[in-house]
Amino acid sequence: MKGLILAGGSGTRLYPITRAVNKQLLPIFNKPLIYYPLTTLMLGGIQDFLIVTSPADRAPFENLLGDGKSWGIRISYAEQARPGGLPEAFKIGADYIAGSPCTLILGDNVFFGDNLSGIMQSAFDANTGMTVFGYRVNDPQNFGVVEMDKAGKVLSLEEKPANPKSSTAVTGLYVCDGRVVEIARNLKPSTRGELEIVDVMKSYLADGLLKVRPFGRGIAWLDTGSPQGLLQASHFVETIESRQGVMVACPEEIAFRRGYIDKAQLLRLGQTLAKTAYGRYLQQIAEEA
Ligand code: TTP
Repeated sequence: MKGLILAGGSGTRLYPITRAVNKQLLPIFNKPLIYYPLTTLMLGGIQDFLIVTSPADRAPFENLLGDGKSWGIRISYAEQARPGGLPEAFKIGADYIAGSPCTLILGDNVFFGDNLSGIMQSAFDANTGMTVFGYRVNDPQNFGVVEMDKAGKVLSLEEKPANPKSSTAVTGLYVCDGRVVEIARNLKPSTRGELEIVDVMKSYLADGLLKVRPFGRGIAWLDTGSPQGLLQASHFVETIESRQGVMVACPEEIAFRRGYIDKAQLLRLGQTLAKTAYGRYLQQIAEEA
């Protein structure tokens, strides 16, 4: 399974913060936002990533994450000339995907909860076309909305409907088979001038190959697109981390626990950040192991 992280966009709802800084580089408490979607995919077992971002933002992401080697993963980069919609990621990443199954995650989506790793892995294993995740929200009109019958069969899919037929939003996590590139290539822009992920879903649905899995109440799916959302996500992470003494979305820790890097490497990574609580945490989990 290959991972695509879409980390471009214009971030207009966060202006003026995001006039000069990419949203996915902003902090959520003690780490950059992009660490959260990256680690969500790492928890699913993905080790191969393509980060799609705007031409101007490529260099900062490369500075932050490099080629992934020090975390035992592989990271490549690609550019989206302008924000033309989520399915563009599949077209831009066509050579990278090369017919393999892939999972697209939006760079501003934060997931947290028990057994996230197991949920992701079982969705990857069971996927035969496209799998998306439904989540109950208070304001479905701001999301892609899926309506299902009692048996879980999809009845309708709508992007930001004025009158939503359900409270189930589709989260920014899309598991696809290799056909998704061809599907994305055949899409036409919507009236707002973008390629729409909901049209990719509809194409799989028409072939009977769209699955919607529920994320229950025990999973947090946080919005980071507005100033309030950013602050709330930071508070959420700080609350969990200071209560439990373990980190949310720490790539070094996940790499270590999954065996991608050894204790010596984790200690080295901790050493480079030794002035911070983050660095001391890495050293502590290495010593405890
Ligand atoms: P959005 O939240 O839809 O858009 P945005 O981030 O540009 O923000 P705003 O609405 O405030 O202008 O995007 C969701 C995620 O997808 C976000 O991480 C940015 C990313 N994205 C791209 O990288 N390219 C795109 O073409 C689009 C539409 C989004």
